[in-house]
Amino acid sequence: MSTSCDFEKALLTAADILADARYAIALTGAGLSVESGIPSFRGPDGLWTRYGQPSNLSYRVFSQDPQAWWEQRLRDESTPGNPTYDLKDAVDRAMPNPGHAAMAELEELGILRAVITQNVDGLHTREGSKSVLEIHGNRNYLRCVGCGHRQPRDGYAITDLPPICNECGGVIKLDTVMFGEPIPRATLDACIEEVQKCDAMLLVGTSGAVNPAAQFPLMAREGGAQIIEVNPESTQLTASVHLALTGQAGDVLPAIARSLRPLKSEED
Ligand code: APR
Repeated sequence: MSTSCDFEKALLTAADILADARYAIALTGAGLSVESGIPSFRGPDGLWTRYGQPSNLSYRVFSQDPQAWWEQRLRDESTPGNPTYDLKDAVDRAMPNPGHAAMAELEELGILRAVITQNVDGLHTREGSKSVLEIHGNRNYLRCVGCGHRQPRDGYAITDLPPICNECGGVIKLDTVMFGEPIPRATLDACIEEVQKCDAMLLVGTSGAVNPAAQFPLMAREGGAQIIEVNPESTQLTASVHLALTGQAGDVLPAIARSLRPLKSEED
């Protein structure tokens, strides 16, 4: 049973690891946005817990009949009682929380060099983080399957189904990566480059259930990086991390930022 004194010590150890790191990055998951009102996927109230996880054939189904996929998608987005509606409704209402703010501050302090996020809610960028790699895409964007051209969904009138790319004539889909869809190569290469460069990784709010992201902490550890996990529960990655801070991201991350603030202001 850890006491608050143990927790304080662990928090200071985490801050020391991050302060001493040459190149610290973060990997975040749905748990970071839970305190913004966005449900996670696999927790007790998780979307997949409630509705079942989408099939790994989702992308193939889309590719075989993109028109039918878009028709169903637009119906689901406006009809309560399905995961698409629930996630869209929650993300539309969501605001960044103190966890996002702390990560933006850690970047500002020069502690965090990049954030790899599995979240598609865009909250890191909204809260001011600049170096953000959205490995599963961003639900506010559209992406052409043909040429990869991305554009904001807001302001794009979806009239033809499926929408067709003006650049290359390819089919346009949501930027969000579907189950069974390859991660866009440039994004995946950029993520791997960050993982290979890091000597510390802050692992926040992810169950470690989905590859390739779940491999990143293991790759970083093999490269000699110190891994710090922030999660109220233990996960399938906990056994591989150097330090597990058991708590909510919205509490733990601001505490880490607070303890690093004076340090960084001394250096300035
Ligand atoms: N602070 C930190 N962690 C939290 C919090 C919180 N306030 N609340 C919940 N968590 C933790 C849970 O304990 C769990 O370990 O967040 C994790 C959420 O796990 P998942 O729901 O599996 O989300 P994630 O790991 O991001 O899923 C990865 O799966 O379906 C795909 O594309 C989807 O990007 C997602 C990927």
